[in-house]
Formats: sequence, C-alpha cells, structure tokens
Amino acid sequence: MRINDQTAAQLKELGVELRRGVSLAEQTSLGIGGTTDELLLHRYETIPDVMRLLARENIPHRFLGGGTNVLIGDGELPWVVLHLRAAHPGMRVEGNAAYVDASADLGGMVTFCAKHDLGGMEGLIGVPGSVGGALRMNAGAYGTQIGPHVREVELYRAASGEIETLRGAEISFDYRHTSFAPDDLMLRVKLELPSKSYKEVLAGIRVCNEKRRSSQPLNQKSAGCIFKNPPGGSAGRMIDELGLKGHRVGDAMVSDRHANFFVNAGHARCSDMLKLIDEVRERVRTAYGVQLENEVIVWRN
Ligand code: EPU
Repeated sequence: MRINDQTAAQLKELGVELRRGVSLAEQTSLGIGGTTDELLLHRYETIPDVMRLLARENIPHRFLGGGTNVLIGDGELPWVVLHLRAAHPGMRVEGNAAYVDASADLGGMVTFCAKHDLGGMEGLIGVPGSVGGALRMNAGAYGTQIGPHVREVELYRAASGEIETLRGAEISFDYRHTSFAPDDLMLRVKLELPSKSYKEVLAGIRVCNEKRRSSQPLNQKSAGCIFKNPPGGSAGRMIDELGLKGHRVGDAMVSDRHANFFVNAGHARCSDMLKLIDEVRERVRTAYGVQLENEVIVWRN
C-alpha cells in the first residue's frame, strides 16, 4: 500500500516519518513478510490526528511492535504499518513502580528494573519483542507473565479515537490473551514489581537463559511458539511425538530442537509457513483429537 504525496505531507506535519516500500521480512524475527509503506510515530500526542487522517483517506493500517510474534503475508501488502519510534524509549523507576514506554525492548526493561533492585520478571528475559507486544499478548515464560504486574496502561483506543489510561483492574490478562481490542495501540505502562537485589535477579535470569538455550532454537529465524498449549497439554510434545521435527514445506520447517517452534530455514514464504501450520494442526487433530490454536498472530493479505 502506497501513501500519496499529499497525505505524506500532512503526515510529516504531524511528526510522522514515512518510509516507502519497506520489506517487512527485515522487520520480523521470522524473516517473512511483503512490502508496504511504514509510518514511524515519533510523537505520541499526535496519534489521534494521524489516525483520523488515515481514516479520512481510507488507508488501512496495522500496528507492528517488535515483529517477533507475527507471520505476515507475501508480496505487496494492502495496509500500511505503523510503528512507535521514540528516540529514547523512556524507562524510570519510583519506589516499586516502573514506568516504561511500549516501544522499549522487553529484555532491556527487565534488566533496567533489575539494576534498580526490582524483580519478578526474570522469566521474561529471553522473550524477544517490545514491551507493547508483551502487554498485548500477556507474554510469559518460566512461570512469569507480565499481566499481574500491570497497574496502568496508557494507550490509543480506536473505539474512542483518543489516548486513554486504563487501570490494571480494568484489563483482563489470560494465557497469551488480553482484553485489549486488536486496534488498541499500547503507549506506556506502569508496573508494580517486588523489591529484589540486583544480584538475586541476575541469578534468576541466568537460570532462565540456560533453560531457554538448552531447549529452544535461538539462533534460527522463528516467531517463538507457533501454537498455544492446549489446557493441560503441550503442543511441542505432541508434535515431537508425531515425529514431525524437521518436517518442512519449502523453507518453512518444524524446528529439530523444539517442535512448537517453526523456523524459516532459508527463504520461506508466508504461504509455506501457513501450509506447514495447517498440516501440523491436522496431524495433531487426527492423532490426539486436539485442535491447536495459533499463538503466532497471522496478518494475511
Ligand atoms: N517437549 C518435547 N519436545 C519438544 C518440545 C517440548 O517433548 O520438541 C516437551 C518438553 O520436554 C516439556 C514439555 O514438552 O516436557 C513442555 O516444553 P517446554 O518446557 O519447552 O515448554 P512449552 O510448553 O513448549 C512454553 C511456552 C514458551 C515458553 C516456555 C518456557 C507456550 C505456547 N509456550 O513452552 O513460550 O518459553 O514454556 O516457559 O506457552 C512463546 O510463547 O512463543 C514461547 C516460546
């Protein structure tokens, strides 16, 4: 999707940086995705005006966070991509509260808080992506989820067209699911974290890093786990038991390290990955009677 010059000029006045014909394969951890114009939002306060402008001009859009949990269609994409781009994503600590910009790196936030003797998020250290993405998905690992620590979220709500602040109690955080609307854009979060010495947090971080390195294909292009775990079960174990590690469609492949990670082993296309996902889902359904749900967010074109 291409923005015309007149709209581009209006966006510039609102502090938006326009990048034309960006390859989203370069912006996602899977290395898959077609091309479109990208709008970098430097000034949060102009977001409502930017969104009104896009609506007026009938320009469809998607919000991209860290690009680590998304599978994007191939070719020319029928929507532009919006990306928060604060020059220095803000992070500050006051007592047991941490105030963090949604565009900050999740792991960076965990270490920043650790340096201020705040813990409770050690398990999230190796989860790639932005704080905004982690909020939207209620990211979790090794017994930690971000949701229970959230006290306030500042966000742009498409429903009202305004920037609003929600209290933690107004948001529901479930397993890899939240009550945010798909077109809500996270801007900032206030977390409340338990006091813990830097040394103690670092020790916890090391344990999680070690577990992750020993079980996940960290040096391959992936979007983490492809399927959610079914209640009481493990998608990775079922796929593994079916002997599907290494199974591929084109360059889309079930990791031979962790069967719920599907990797781009070369030049995989979105269509290859979707076919692989469907094949594996069907094999699991036939063998176990379990219908696996996607954990990865799919943006088809
Ligand atoms: N297993 C196998 N074969 C495999 C993979 C796993 O037999 O190929 C077995 C393991 O031996 C273990 C069980 O399955 O007994 C569970 O595996 P693991 O501990 O690796 O955890 P998981 O349930 O597969 C979840 C999250 C991960 C998170 C880890 C660690 C989901 C879908 N996945 O994986 O999150 O990092 O726990 O807490 O909830 C993600 O969300 O993208 C993600 C990677």
